[in-house]
Amino acid sequence: MDTPVKIRIRNLYKIFGSRPAAVLPQVLEGLSKPDLLARHNHVLGLRDINVDIREGQITVIMGLSGSGKSTLIRHLNRLIEPTAGEVLVDGDNILTWNERRLRDLRRRTMSMVFQKFALLPHRTVLDNAGMALLTQGVPRAGYEADARTWLDRVGLGGYGAHFPHQLSGGMQQRVGIARALTSNAGIMLMDEAFSALDPLIRTDMQNLLLELQAELHKTIVFITHDLDEALKLADHLVILKDGQVVQQGEPQGILLNPADPYIEAFIADINRARVLRVRSVMTGPGDGASSGQVDADDTLESVIALSRGDTARRYQVMRDGQAVGMVDMGAVIRALVPPQRMGGD
Ligand SMILES: Nc1ncnc2c1ncn2[C@@H]1O[C@H](COP(=O)(O)OP(=O)(O)OP(=O)(O)O)[C@@H](O)[C@H]1O
Ligand SMILES: [Mg+2]
Repeated sequence: MDTPVKIRIRNLYKIFGSRPAAVLPQVLEGLSKPDLLARHNHVLGLRDINVDIREGQITVIMGLSGSGKSTLIRHLNRLIEPTAGEVLVDGDNILTWNERRLRDLRRRTMSMVFQKFALLPHRTVLDNAGMALLTQGVPRAGYEADARTWLDRVGLGGYGAHFPHQLSGGMQQRVGIARALTSNAGIMLMDEAFSALDPLIRTDMQNLLLELQAELHKTIVFITHDLDEALKLADHLVILKDGQVVQQGEPQGILLNPADPYIEAFIADINRARVLRVRSVMTGPGDGASSGQVDADDTLESVIALSRGDTARRYQVMRDGQAVGMVDMGAVIRALVPPQRMGGD
């Protein structure tokens, strides 16, 4: 039973320059990004992107600066026109939509949260939270109750009459999130939304997002260049390099089976004990002695602590009160070593 796809990106290409269509055939034949620039003075933004963004999930798009993250997310509401390919929202190709439908898509179906908070400086926090409705000409009475509810929910109760410059960066970003929630859009596009924040505040915001998501089940597309943030938030992780997807999938799977040396290098410094979960290293339910029970979502770190370092132990794995597998400490320890460093004999 797969979760339905909300946004489907199919064979998407974006070439920046004066004559993108003229150079597309050569890109389709494999002309590289550096060669495209050197020979034709065009920039390859995206090459053959295929991603399914599933309803109610957090899809994280990660990559280094210039890898195409912002270019990709701006295609989802057609702020950028592709050179080739399709973007389907609920199965409908938005490249066939007229301006009116696109405006509706941007206002009602999707909300955006940016790195620069993009608040209106001369409007109160309350009006900023209600901005989606405010800009449609709805009077304050039409959004005040919802805006107050979401400001409360993000920890800004009582700040409605303040102005953005009276708030800290973290508080302004909370207004940005309250604004996205007040718009009541089912899809949230977040481009480096937390990247400008101090580490501790950033962690708070990540936790807030996960807490809200457990309740609201929005379809979230979250862009970051930070691997820890990506691993913490992602249901589905897409890694971009030079405008191409190098690997995508469930984050645990990527950590356990990196597709190529680029990904291996990318994940080399991750604290695997904290990120990997029991469910990713367990075997099927089996008989035999066990030293106790652990939860499928427990981190390997917590199992190691529980075992007190005894590598002979074996635990029964539980999910929602059901036994779903077994995990032995050998598998836990092996998973701590990145695949490329696992020597043969
Ligand atoms: N309007 C444009 N005209 C020409 N080239 C562009 C344009 N927008 C983006 N690019 C190029 O496309 C590539 C991807 O840029 P993009 O902004 O999507 O990267 P990013 O992954 O969001 O980077 P960052 O982490 O720095 O925000 C880069 O090579 C960039 O120079
Ligand atoms: Mg960007």
